Amino acid sequence: MSAPEGGEATTEAARRRTFAIISHPDAGKTTLTEKFLLYGGALTTGAGAVKAREGRRAVTSDWMEMERQRGISITSTVLQFPYRDHVVNLLDTPGHRDFSEDTYRVLAAADAAVMVLDAAKGIEPQTLKLFEVCRERGLPLLTFINKWDRPGRDPLEVIDEVEQRIGVVPTPLTWPVGLAGDFRGVVDRRTGDYVRFTRVARGATEAPEEVLDAAGAADAEGEAWTRAADELSLLDEVGASHDDELFRAGETSPTFFGSALTNFGVRLLLDAVVDLAPSPTPRLDEAGKERPLDAPFSGLVFKVQSNMDRAHRDRIAYLRVCSGRFERGMVVTHARTHKPFATKYAHSVFGQERETVEVAWPGDVVGLVNATEVRVGDTLYLDEHVAYPEIPSFAPEQFSVVRVRDTGKAKQFRKGVTQLDEEGVVQVLRDLDMGDQAPVLAAVGPMQFEVAVHRLETEFGAPVELSPTSYTVARVTDEASTTPLRGMRGVTVLERADGTRLALFESRFWLDRVLADQPDLTLDPLVGNAMVG
Ligand code: G4P
Repeated sequence: MSAPEGGEATTEAARRRTFAIISHPDAGKTTLTEKFLLYGGALTTGAGAVKAREGRRAVTSDWMEMERQRGISITSTVLQFPYRDHVVNLLDTPGHRDFSEDTYRVLAAADAAVMVLDAAKGIEPQTLKLFEVCRERGLPLLTFINKWDRPGRDPLEVIDEVEQRIGVVPTPLTWPVGLAGDFRGVVDRRTGDYVRFTRVARGATEAPEEVLDAAGAADAEGEAWTRAADELSLLDEVGASHDDELFRAGETSPTFFGSALTNFGVRLLLDAVVDLAPSPTPRLDEAGKERPLDAPFSGLVFKVQSNMDRAHRDRIAYLRVCSGRFERGMVVTHARTHKPFATKYAHSVFGQERETVEVAWPGDVVGLVNATEVRVGDTLYLDEHVAYPEIPSFAPEQFSVVRVRDTGKAKQFRKGVTQLDEEGVVQVLRDLDMGDQAPVLAAVGPMQFEVAVHRLETEFGAPVELSPTSYTVARVTDEASTTPLRGMRGVTVLERADGTRLALFESRFWLDRVLADQPDLTLDPLVGNAMVG
């Protein structure tokens, strides 16, 4: 790596790789995360898989009862570990079936993503949206085709499906030798070497690797090698080769085959993250101007989470450092309120464990404890003013009226609803006449409602009842259009806390009809809506 020109922040940024792993539930994201930690030396090895399993429990944030009951990860954590001469920041995205706002925000803080697919299942429809988001945002994507130790599909068929369904061209950098279920090793297409793996009991330690040339591989693997060699010449013919520029533009995806469970192919993938994924670059501010990496500190809050630690009620704002050097204790400015903000309680959060962070650089994530006034999308900076653009959100598609069951708890209910709105767990919409009494919760997926109901009851002591509505489409409207819209059947107008008015429609068809009949009405797509249609 040639030394980058510039100051210390540029040098430190060049060492960093900040990425997220995205996958379908059960494709192996947790296992791969754990194995990255193993290869990064961040998990104790030698004591066997049990230790790794315990580690897994510890690193998978399970701060809510609900999460534990269901065995899913609803919240995200940030894991940082050194690898070679780099610093890897792995942003964990919620791995449940239900796509939520949270995942999208985490992607806004990442410079690249690793997509994990189950070799036998390929692309699964529920989470297709997530991959589309990466593509739409031009986020560089690496693909890991996992569980090759089990019977699965033909590798050519799997990569073909990725191309067809996501529209990203897979460029395999490794190719499996041995059919799915009889996995022997991979060919490293960059060097032509055959990397042969040996299984280690329960994948508790790194899988031993033996590197052979083509002749050695042919001797060792016979028929399996011939087949892989044939497939490789086919790939060469269609030109499915890595191109750095196309990868960085999100058009092609370096693809790897492996088995997270047995550690096969994990090192090659982690090496590729370090070698190929971009390091943090200067971020554009609201005005579209670059904030140089060496400018004074600035950071973007991409996630706010409450009560991670049940022993202390707290609220953590996760901030991605975008420029300069972050030092704990520095007093920064909150761009939205222009108020000073003291960073005395800054942590790096490793799963549930917290460590005080002293210094952080572009690409790193800092958890600011008890950052009560900080919201998702806020910028904090030192000295030179900067405000980063809002993180685009998905247009909600589900709307439910929420009512407190016990009117004696109205105050707690209001407080809880406001808090959930600020954290972005759900969006809260209020009726123009009814105000706070029966707000409408708006979400991208139903899991967001479940989290909201659970938290209102357990954290705020306000059990609630949800009644689904039949609205499915939201558009931004204005005061002038409000009265005619409210007079229509199948339409309502509600207000967000920031004063934005949203017109809700029962169907897109109905919205189109209204637009065709009254083209003068203001009905603008929400930010991010255009992307998902
Ligand atoms: P997720 O976070 O994407 O939801 O997936 P997770 O890693 O939890 O993996 C889901 C299941 O798939 C787990 O089995 C895990 O052990 C298994 N798995 C992950 N990677 C591989 C692989 O490379 N090969 C094989 N054969 N299995 C793999 P489980 O039975 O649900 O959980 P557990 O009892 O192993 O914890």
